[in-house]
Amino acid sequence: MKKYYKPSIFFLSLIPFFLILYKIIFNKLGPEPVKEITHFTGEWTLLFIIFTLSMSPLKKITKLNIWISFRRMLGLFLFFYATLHMLTYVAIDYRLDFQSISKDILTKKFIFVGFAAWILLLPLAFTSSKKAIIYLKDKWKKLHRLIYIISILGIIHFIWLVKKDLTEPLIYAAIVVILLLFRFNIKRYKN
Ligand code: HEM
Repeated sequence: MKKYYKPSIFFLSLIPFFLILYKIIFNKLGPEPVKEITHFTGEWTLLFIIFTLSMSPLKKITKLNIWISFRRMLGLFLFFYATLHMLTYVAIDYRLDFQSISKDILTKKFIFVGFAAWILLLPLAFTSSKKAIIYLKDKWKKLHRLIYIISILGIIHFIWLVKKDLTEPLIYAAIVVILLLFRFNIKRYKN
């Protein structure tokens, strides 16, 4: 039974991708298609941050190690959706107009923070292999703590881009804060 867990998580993680692909192919994106793709991929990036951060607390609560074996895949899907989200903005919305993109990064603080979060995801994605874990040893753990900063930047990005109703970003913020506090509590008890 256990051997089906990982493939199941893999296919479940692909559902949002196929959903947006379906909407693109069958013209179901509504009146503002680019905005819809940006929102969809942005939301799923944040959800995958939450899924990735949840594995360690779930292991602690259920006392089952299996959760940790999903973490790497969920982290890579987080990078996948963040990259789709970033590319929607860079390649579809701005059509690779790097002058305007650079101006946006420097003048719109929510873009700056989002971009910083994506840049910080790069070293995590590139060191996600088993080889990198063996090679980097203790440094790997330290490097992968960047996910905490990325999650906070992702939340700030969302709070800053919302113009009126802050309910949704604040719900995400509360979940991320609880997950981060859980982690620090685990560390305190361990020491
Ligand atoms: C870890 C990285 C990131 C996360 C977690 C994230 C998350 C989000 C979320 C949750 C939304 C709002 C979705 C909604 O309205 O429901 C959003 C919107 C947006 N994001 Fe990101 N994002 C990230 C990185 C980026 C990057 C790298 C860029 C571009 C350089 C970017 C550009 C945008 C834009 C343009 C919007 C739409 C703003 C609007 O509605 O006017 N994001 N993002």
